[in-house]
Amino acid sequence: MSLPIVTATRYVLPLREGGSLPGVVEGNDLGTYVIKFHGAGQGPKALVAEVIVGELFRRLGLRVPELKRIMLDPVIGKSEPDYEVQTLLTNSAGLNLAVDFLPGSFGYDGSAGNPGDAGMAKILWLDAFVANVDRSWRNTNLLVWHKNLWLIDHGAALYFHHSWMSAEKFATLAYDADDHVFSIAAPGVPAVADELAAAITPELLTEVIALVPDEWLGEGDRERYLGHLLARLEHRSAWQPGGAS
Ligand SMILES: Nc1ncnc2c1ncn2[C@@H]1O[C@H](COP(=O)(O)OP(=O)(O)OP(=O)(O)O)[C@@H](O)[C@H]1O
Ligand SMILES: [Mg+2]
Repeated sequence: MSLPIVTATRYVLPLREGGSLPGVVEGNDLGTYVIKFHGAGQGPKALVAEVIVGELFRRLGLRVPELKRIMLDPVIGKSEPDYEVQTLLTNSAGLNLAVDFLPGSFGYDGSAGNPGDAGMAKILWLDAFVANVDRSWRNTNLLVWHKNLWLIDHGAALYFHHSWMSAEKFATLAYDADDHVFSIAAPGVPAVADELAAAITPELLTEVIALVPDEWLGEGDRERYLGHLLARLEHRSAWQPGGAS
């Protein structure tokens, strides 16, 4: 199993609200995508986290825009005048990540798209599991589209991989739920956590880790992601918001 692959045919515009300067592009399948570049600041590891976390969350019933691999020839941006964009495109030749563009979506502000108490608790627990530090009120990385809540931008999760912190350390690493957009749902976490934890099997994790393209990984990385995530699952009393189940 691998993510579908498309080729970028037109660079439409940069998304300046994103710190990594993602862009909007058209694909050779006529789709419109947000492209996240392997040549951006955090490098390909941010894309690895997007795939593992996004595909895990999708399989656990959350809405995540479809993810594809996208081939980029930097020449498609040659008429883009911005030097920063040009450099990013040049540094990102080859395989990048495409996120299905949700036209007309807007950032979650607490009203439309509210997932309810259990839904909030579920998202909070999952973000704590993958150590996603990028879901605060300042930057929710939640979009409302057709009245539903969509989760985006998981590139900051799994940050153990930047220095390859040991699995033992990551297993019990605390999570600051106070900063999370759904911190209010913490007391409801123990009621939803058992079911989520039971659904995260070694097979499911192996399946989502297998979707990461070889191009973004070092040797042995797949085994390391699996080991770290299984270790964290096993020690969830150490990091679970709202206390142990
Ligand atoms: N699939 C999408 N459909 C529509 N708009 C999107 C989509 N993905 C991202 N955006 C818009 O682009 C912005 C930047 O995207 P994203 O958060 O993925 O980038 P980032 O560089 O990782 O950002 P951050 O600054 O949060 O680290 C989002 O806040 C959102 O407004
Ligand atoms: Mg973002």
